[in-house]
Amino acid sequence: MKIGILGYGTVGSGFIDVIDNNRDKRDIEICKILVSDKYKHKGKKYFDKITENIEDIFEENIDVLVEVMGGLNPTLDYIKRAINNNIHVVTANKDLLAEYGDELVKLANEKGVYIKFEASVGGGIPVLKPLIESLEGNNIESISAILNGTTNFILSKMYDENLPYNIALKQAQELGFAEANPEADVMGYDAARKLSILSTLAYNNRVYWKDLYLEGITSIDERDMEYAKKLDCKIKLVGQSSLKEDKVSAFVRPVLVENNSILAKVDNEFNAVIVNGDSVGEISFVGKGAGKLATGSAVYSDVIDIIDNRINCIDSFMKNKVEINKILENKCS
Ligand code: HSE
Repeated sequence: MKIGILGYGTVGSGFIDVIDNNRDKRDIEICKILVSDKYKHKGKKYFDKITENIEDIFEENIDVLVEVMGGLNPTLDYIKRAINNNIHVVTANKDLLAEYGDELVKLANEKGVYIKFEASVGGGIPVLKPLIESLEGNNIESISAILNGTTNFILSKMYDENLPYNIALKQAQELGFAEANPEADVMGYDAARKLSILSTLAYNNRVYWKDLYLEGITSIDERDMEYAKKLDCKIKLVGQSSLKEDKVSAFVRPVLVENNSILAKVDNEFNAVIVNGDSVGEISFVGKGAGKLATGSAVYSDVIDIIDNRINCIDSFMKNKVEINKILENKCS
């Protein structure tokens, strides 16, 4: 299996480490790695594979393009070019999927290639695959989730260690959890994009992220933390959606969660996704939602699924956007 990689940042490095850690099980050939400034990566392994020229990626006879560079442009063009050239795609890019998931899935279907994106939601937690495959015997009724590691890390540090917001954010950036522009984390855009991807797959209806009710964590301060403690609660940035009578309700906003709830026990960069299915009842997925190796492991699992021809159906992305009910239900798990 020959792959080309777009991007060699936190997730790209994690993915390459996971490949190397599993060489005895699977041999994946890294043909080329695209970066914007080659000499920033001096000293890294596979330096000889690094290029600044996208043509070098497409000149190789690759089977899979792994996109971990993020952003919308020129990423969208590169992914479309790969699909049009019958190359399978694995991406961790939630921004791209939340915006252009419909177009990309349609194109991939037309071309008969696979596009997979487990790492786009929940970092290292395998959540999309179980949702699509293992829960097929269910109508999914609701999802409650913590979907952003950076904000969860900040809120945990503010609550547990009384750290000021800015210091906690800086730590999250140093640990490689935050987006290049952390506004996407703290304003809730990143969580909203992830909730839209999850909800699209869960309800088999296209849920568009900009239609959700959205509120970030930038106005949370020490006083809020004190009040939360007095109420025996924590403050979490919660994404919640539900389907009732063909109507989807969805929001991302800071929520008080009781200390004995599942979500309250999920701290730092950890994420949680609690799914309610009409057959199975409530299921919780908890794990590292951000970070190098954790996210790299999710990218790796998609590549292996393609090698092994294990592909799931993601046609819900091609549906029309569903109208979102913004009336909030004040109920969290
Ligand atoms: N910035 C994201 C987060 C990275 O903090 O969750 C993982 O998607």
